Amino acid sequence: MERTALISPAEIQQQLAHCDAVAQLTAQWPDRPLAFVDTYGCQQNEADSERIRGYLSRMGFAFTHSEEEARIIVINTCAIREHAEQRVFGNVGALVHLKRRRPDTLICLCGCMVQQPQAARKIRESYRHVDLVFGPHALWKFPEMVRALLTQRGRTFSVDDEAGSIAEGIPVVRQDKIRAWVSVMYGCNNFCTYCIVPYVRGRERSRSPEDILAEVRQLAEEGYKDITLLGQNVNSYGKDLAEPLDFADLLERVNAIPGDFLIRFMTSHPKDATQKLFEAMARCEKVAPVLHLPFQAGNDRILKIMNRRHTRAEYLEKIRALRALIPDITLTSDIIVGFPGETTEEFEDTLRVLEEVRFDALFTFIFSPRPGTPAAAMDDPMPRSEKLANFERLTALQDQISEEKHAAYVGKRVRCLIDGLSDDARYDLTARTPGNRLVRVVGDVSALGQFRDVKITGANKWSLFGELG
Ligand code: 5AD
Ligand code: SF4
Repeated sequence: MERTALISPAEIQQQLAHCDAVAQLTAQWPDRPLAFVDTYGCQQNEADSERIRGYLSRMGFAFTHSEEEARIIVINTCAIREHAEQRVFGNVGALVHLKRRRPDTLICLCGCMVQQPQAARKIRESYRHVDLVFGPHALWKFPEMVRALLTQRGRTFSVDDEAGSIAEGIPVVRQDKIRAWVSVMYGCNNFCTYCIVPYVRGRERSRSPEDILAEVRQLAEEGYKDITLLGQNVNSYGKDLAEPLDFADLLERVNAIPGDFLIRFMTSHPKDATQKLFEAMARCEKVAPVLHLPFQAGNDRILKIMNRRHTRAEYLEKIRALRALIPDITLTSDIIVGFPGETTEEFEDTLRVLEEVRFDALFTFIFSPRPGTPAAAMDDPMPRSEKLANFERLTALQDQISEEKHAAYVGKRVRCLIDGLSDDARYDLTARTPGNRLVRVVGDVSALGQFRDVKITGANKWSLFGELG
């Protein structure tokens, strides 16, 4: 099987023609055509949903937050943990009543969950009200599939284990006017033994630097202030390109684009986060001083059976090298508690890494067996109650560190991006520090979308509080 399918501009043109044909149909409907798009999971899924919205908009749909009003419902699913799947199945199950009342509503499921054969089978057999199911590889063909469903009856499943694709030129409707995601690569080759991603998103493939730079240039011209370069493993960027260009080189090129905006990126793998990358981060003034560097576990035996291909000492050394260049770097990480066979003593090595590094924030997870991954078949003798107790020790320690680190901001003036309206009535706005800490701010809403000095007046373990000025 070919590893990457490059979808040609002519093929995307064909899909746009399908959109236009659907638009002719929707224009005749008595009611305004509305679509509901719901997204689970990571930013890559958010980025995919922006493309789905782009296609839908070209088909004549406007968007609603109500499933009841929608004529087409798209649920973009996640497979990373069982909990994410249970939520999707629960919500999709509840749609059976809506479909009974309004059989014309098209129900579509896409994303990582449905790319797994057992999940696709379950939907085929037990969720018969779902009309269209397609995996990440088939997203570019969404218009063709919608058109077929609107003109013929039946169900469509497009979840074959096809080659991962790269498709340029799909229209995008972005959710936000201030922050934007730009995928730089897709897929993952690492096969960490707990992780489903390489099975559902295919092998690593990089977009061309020209396409990425053109997209960022346009975002900068449109006034976007915070641009995140996305990939499951951005440090592998470029390995599959003909020209010799790596992620650090790409960062330098993005940094050279004129405009007042911040550049972020995620996710990085410690095994190939290089000194060259750290130096590029330090040199590029637009690159935010923040690194999300998952370490997953602090014990070398566990790291080995996770197939992480780095040791605890190597990880800590990278952090030291990075801090030597950027002392005030904000550091975040992902951690899995309760990997099969991890003892409580081994888990305590994870706590020691927290104490040593003092991360600004963590994303912590209890191991969730994913069918088809090696870890799902490993012996897992620890009772759930013990895993939960360890998990609580971990979050308690991190809460204390976050609180202490946040408290150190109080009294300081920090240049923040004012990025939203606060849902807490005591504050008007939300803002982000360069390191991406949330700040709730008192101030005039005219500051929305601007970089402004914020005086930090208070803090707790989750966020900071402040005022403009
Ligand atoms: N169980 C628990 N957490 C997982 N992650 C990935 N797979 C699993 C799993 N099977 C976590 C990892 C990864 C993050 C995105 O999700 O920490 O970095
Ligand atoms: Fe999953 Fe590991 Fe790839 Fe991250 S690097 S997506 S955890 S396999």
